[in-house]
Amino acid sequence: MNSPQPFSDDQFARYYRRRTLELWPEDGDPLDRLARHALLPQGKLLRPRLFLLCMAALGGDPGQAAALAVALEGHHTASLVHDDLIDGDAERRGRPSVPAGFGATQALLGGDAMLCRYFADLAEHRLEGVGPRRQLDFIALVGSTGVEVCRGQLLEERLRGDLDCGTDAYLAMVTMKTAALLRGTCLAAALLTGAAPAVAEALADYGEALGIAFQIRDDLLPYRDEGARRAAGKPSRSDLRNLRPTLPVLLAMERAAPRQARRLRRLVPRAGRGPRALGELTALLRELGALDGAAGLLRGHAERARGRLAALPAGEHRERLAALARTVEVF
Ligand code: IPE
Ligand code: IPE
Ligand code: MG
Ligand code: MG
Repeated sequence: MNSPQPFSDDQFARYYRRRTLELWPEDGDPLDRLARHALLPQGKLLRPRLFLLCMAALGGDPGQAAALAVALEGHHTASLVHDDLIDGDAERRGRPSVPAGFGATQALLGGDAMLCRYFADLAEHRLEGVGPRRQLDFIALVGSTGVEVCRGQLLEERLRGDLDCGTDAYLAMVTMKTAALLRGTCLAAALLTGAAPAVAEALADYGEALGIAFQIRDDLLPYRDEGARRAAGKPSRSDLRNLRPTLPVLLAMERAAPRQARRLRRLVPRAGRGPRALGELTALLRELGALDGAAGLLRGHAERARGRLAALPAGEHRERLAALARTVEVF
């Protein structure tokens, strides 16, 4: 049997660029310029690649779904535009963030316009064999996924400065703010291909576990070497500066003696401002086993993600989904 081939990564990146320039043309107005700045050069394209791989693994035609994949990446990028506004971050993907380069009002409106534009795209692109009812369900799924992301961002805001909130609250928060989008991406492919409920649920769990692992990896960024921090193309100390609850710090607080806890409370905001305090914080987190602990939990979620793939048909696409989960573990 011929299984459908996913777009190669290069093919998809080229298509993404072409489509982005169609939607936000170079001879366009200030909104087009803002959106192009946010979208090009592209980020890692994790979510659209995940979507196309899931489509292929479930017997769908990824070539036909490429425009939908671009729209999903557009939604993710819009969430980053708003996130940089919320976090007060001036750099994204190695260039000025949209709020830093264009202004706060512009970032708010630009992010909104991107969300609206890409919802319209999801409605305009019909896949062969996908009827209007299923298409509407797909768009509704993308919408409700976005609501979850906002709930997660709001919970994160409520937990700001609460270094004792604990790992359960952290898990609830990242499951919404980050993992919901990866879960929704996988579920969207299952919905469009008419996958059996058990397969859809397994793939959704894979996406969720992958998303949690991905966020833990991001939480570990401030403590990595300078090369890795620079390569991220965004301010690596943002979470510390904003007193965000991140896994290494929360694990350290759970393990700390009262004196160490007092020191952590003092060090976290200072580490957000300067490299010296960051060095001290890193040493303390290491002493408390919090960096190893977070890396262990990251690996656990990535393994759980891989385990759920057993419900999918064996083959190249399933292997690529497993390999994707493995890349999150490597750093
Ligand atoms: C950034 O996502 C937001 C997080 C969930 C950490 P990515 O790391 O996928 O960002 P881009 O799209 O590659 O820039
Ligand atoms: C990522 O938020 C999740 C979103 C909802 C955009 P973060 O604030 O943790 O991500 P980065 O570190 O800015 O990419
Ligand atoms: Mg941020
Ligand atoms: Mg944020």
